[in-house]
Amino acid sequence: MTPVEDLRARERRAEDGGGADRLRKQHAAGKLTARERIDLLFDPGTFEEVDKLVTHRCRDFGMEAQVFPGDGVITGHGRVHGRVVYAFAQDFTVFGGSLSETNAAKICKVMDMAVRNGCPVIGLNDSGGARIQEGVVSLGGYADIFLRNTMASGVVPQISAIMGPCAGGAVYSPAITDFTIMVKDTSYMFVTGPDVIRTVTHEDVTKDALGGAMTHNAISGVAHFAVADDRECLLLIRELLSFMPGNNLDEAPRLVTEDATDREDESLDALVPVSPNQPYDMLDVIHTVADEGYFLEVHEHYAKNILVGFARLGGRPVGIVANQPAHLAGTLDIDASVKGARFVRFCDAFNIPLVTFEDVPGFLPGTVQEYGGIIRHGAKLLYAFAEATVPKVTVITRKAYGGAYCVMASKHLRTDFNYAWPTAEIAVMGAEGAVNILYKREIERADDPAAMRAERVAEFRRKFANPYVAAEKGYVDEVILPRTTRRKLIQVLAALEGKRETLPRKKHGNIPL
Ligand code: HXC
Repeated sequence: MTPVEDLRARERRAEDGGGADRLRKQHAAGKLTARERIDLLFDPGTFEEVDKLVTHRCRDFGMEAQVFPGDGVITGHGRVHGRVVYAFAQDFTVFGGSLSETNAAKICKVMDMAVRNGCPVIGLNDSGGARIQEGVVSLGGYADIFLRNTMASGVVPQISAIMGPCAGGAVYSPAITDFTIMVKDTSYMFVTGPDVIRTVTHEDVTKDALGGAMTHNAISGVAHFAVADDRECLLLIRELLSFMPGNNLDEAPRLVTEDATDREDESLDALVPVSPNQPYDMLDVIHTVADEGYFLEVHEHYAKNILVGFARLGGRPVGIVANQPAHLAGTLDIDASVKGARFVRFCDAFNIPLVTFEDVPGFLPGTVQEYGGIIRHGAKLLYAFAEATVPKVTVITRKAYGGAYCVMASKHLRTDFNYAWPTAEIAVMGAEGAVNILYKREIERADDPAAMRAERVAEFRRKFANPYVAAEKGYVDEVILPRTTRRKLIQVLAALEGKRETLPRKKHGNIPL
């Protein structure tokens, strides 16, 4: 065998993963192999693998006889839409994709390279967890990765795809990354599995109910996206990357758009219902305003009373945060506050301007919320908006009541431009609530309490349930015709291109966790 043939043979062995039988089993389980996933993630022919010939060092449990070049993880870099991205893909066909000392070292190596070069890191997770035969060195390997996830946070974007098992402490790497995508039916995440739970708490729960894609998308909020299969997952990663820069010192890439920057849409003028208690769909506002009507919603299934996601305005990526009056009347609750805060902080870390659409009647009342710590959690969203130094623009479409007025990127939190539609109601509370407090005794004493209440409500609405008091004070920069919203947003975002805002020097803030 010539040296070249020898190299080719070694590479082929690495490319065979755990062998034909295990690769077949992977396909039979509805999953692609690690190599197929890498091929779909990167622009064709751009992936450069590193550490392809690395093997484990374990000499116990007969492991010396079981050596697979690459050791259960494919690592390297390639291009996504022409930009350099680093990735690792756990190969379930080799020791169940379990994490060994050398396997962890490979992952750490690409993470270090990604940070040094200012490029995103993508983790394709499909693993039985710590390599049981290796014991504590495997646990150490996890901690090495967690440290890097933490150090890279806010420096380069990190995206985790869960494409098989991800259990035990292994879940904490995806948990630290910016976005987690789960594949329906084939992936699950939990700290302790169904068997342990049955023993300890006597609860009977399936893997999917405990930690499947929809559980983490709709109930726990651990995952941001649920996708049908591996292909959709990898396409989504590519799409998500198109909205973000390679690192915290870069700008997100801009696209050329055919959608006119001065496009107006009359339908917005009549979108907000006359009755303040009638819902409408804030997604209609976002779709009407965004380039080509496109909105990549993040956390779609979780805390539906707030919408977060990416869109483009005049080709420039923006992060959108919006109250959703069609769910829980758009109130802020614990889940919505945490969801919003995390998204705001991502956008702020990566120089993505924030556009807020506001229609919020206040915080959701109730013991569940108070006992659950709405004070602490609501403060997260407030803190995140206040701390953010990226360009910030707010449009109040209808209600901006009470504390929620302050929280939702109000002028007072250093928001650059605050607009209101003529339908905006900016007040300490809704008219009915205010009248019940202010005129309680007067109404009780009246000959016709209902008529008196109606009169007072109408008076309050005339005085306060409008945008003009705030506009007179400069808390709202301009009351705009709804149809002009897209044009206005694009114009002010251009005016904010050179924004320079800083925070006081500090080690770090103490966000109320
Ligand atoms: C070594 C492992 C392994 C592991 C699986 N394999 N998990 N090898 N270490 N952790 C191997 C199996 O021996 C098998 O080898 C192959 O991978 C496929 O596994 P199967 O069991 O046949 O597959 P499947 O039926 O699909 O079940 C997948 C599984 C199961 C649910 C993941 O393998 C499993 O329960 N594994 C153990 C999970 C676990 O307890 N891990 C430790 C968690 S604690 P062959 O040769 O037959 O192909 C942890 C701590 C992290 O991870 C700490 C961080 C702080």
